[in-house]
Amino acid sequence: MASESTTDEIEEKETGKSTKVAAKTKTEESPEKIETAESSGSAAVATKTKTEEKIEVTESIASSGSAAVAVAAVSPPSSGELGKKMDERIFNLNKILIDRVYDLICFVYPVKGNDRDFARFFVLETVARVPYFAYLSVLHLRETFGQRTTDGTKDGEEMSDRMRTHYAEADNELHHLLIMESLGGNSNVVDRLLAQTMAFGYYWYVICVYFLSESAAYHLSELIEDHAFNTYDGFLKNHGDRLKKMPVPSIAEKYYVDDNPFLFDLFCTVKETSADGNFSARRPKLESLYDVFVNVRDDEREHWKTLCNLVQYDSMQGCDASEVRSTEPMPVEPAAA
Ligand SMILES: [Fe+2]
Ligand SMILES: [Fe+2]
Repeated sequence: MASESTTDEIEEKETGKSTKVAAKTKTEESPEKIETAESSGSAAVATKTKTEEKIEVTESIASSGSAAVAVAAVSPPSSGELGKKMDERIFNLNKILIDRVYDLICFVYPVKGNDRDFARFFVLETVARVPYFAYLSVLHLRETFGQRTTDGTKDGEEMSDRMRTHYAEADNELHHLLIMESLGGNSNVVDRLLAQTMAFGYYWYVICVYFLSESAAYHLSELIEDHAFNTYDGFLKNHGDRLKKMPVPSIAEKYYVDDNPFLFDLFCTVKETSADGNFSARRPKLESLYDVFVNVRDDEREHWKTLCNLVQYDSMQGCDASEVRSTEPMPVEPAAA
């Protein structure tokens, strides 16, 4: 993908002294490494690129003897790499769109602790899985025209790896949908019509956005997955007792327990640091519908982590699980007069 330069300035007031840190990022392909040096009351932050371009940032501190605090553009992962921010105009557009659609679904389908809740989840799952096969559609087309890496360069991520992961994510979301259907979430024709109409429109929207900007399209889904995780988390907290009295649907048993976990482990691209085996092996045993929803919620978090990495690092394994953070907006500098 094309290179892109960004500049972030962060001002920090400290005991009446102004500390200014300029943290620059250079290209999407070469994330920065931050090194901090501290000596005799002054600190410097050296920002180094893979091309050895060096940007030195110094703090001016009015009085002597005080150690400076270095502030990076984005809270840096311990690996030292900084995640990209997103142009705030695109960030805001995505956020407004996703928040409004989500608010509409919440308004039409308020959670009440009865079987209508499954209709709400049916609608959400029908729409939330659309982006993964929209990405696949575009990637298949690019593959047909000879592209073999995600950015078209020799050093880019293998496109087939990315496509396999998106397929595994789509398959995972399909099973969320099948679980909601098994609970009666799709029994009403109006719910089906609404969900499928939204999914059809959203599919073409994501296709267009993905053609123009992969990171913008991934950010749309990052926002959706964040909502999905919080929705299921709140549902488990508020209605867990009811779920614990309900049986495990057979489709959930098949997917989470009986099926070969190859595809399941494939979409968990950002393993937890404590992981010592396949992700599927660490899932809770299914004893009630509550456990099923715990799995569904945790799946949404896995999707979110992968998407954060794709937006910020253009890589499915950009940073470790403990370092994943939501994408932040990057203020746009006003055009020079
Ligand atoms: Fe889902
Ligand atoms: Fe998801």
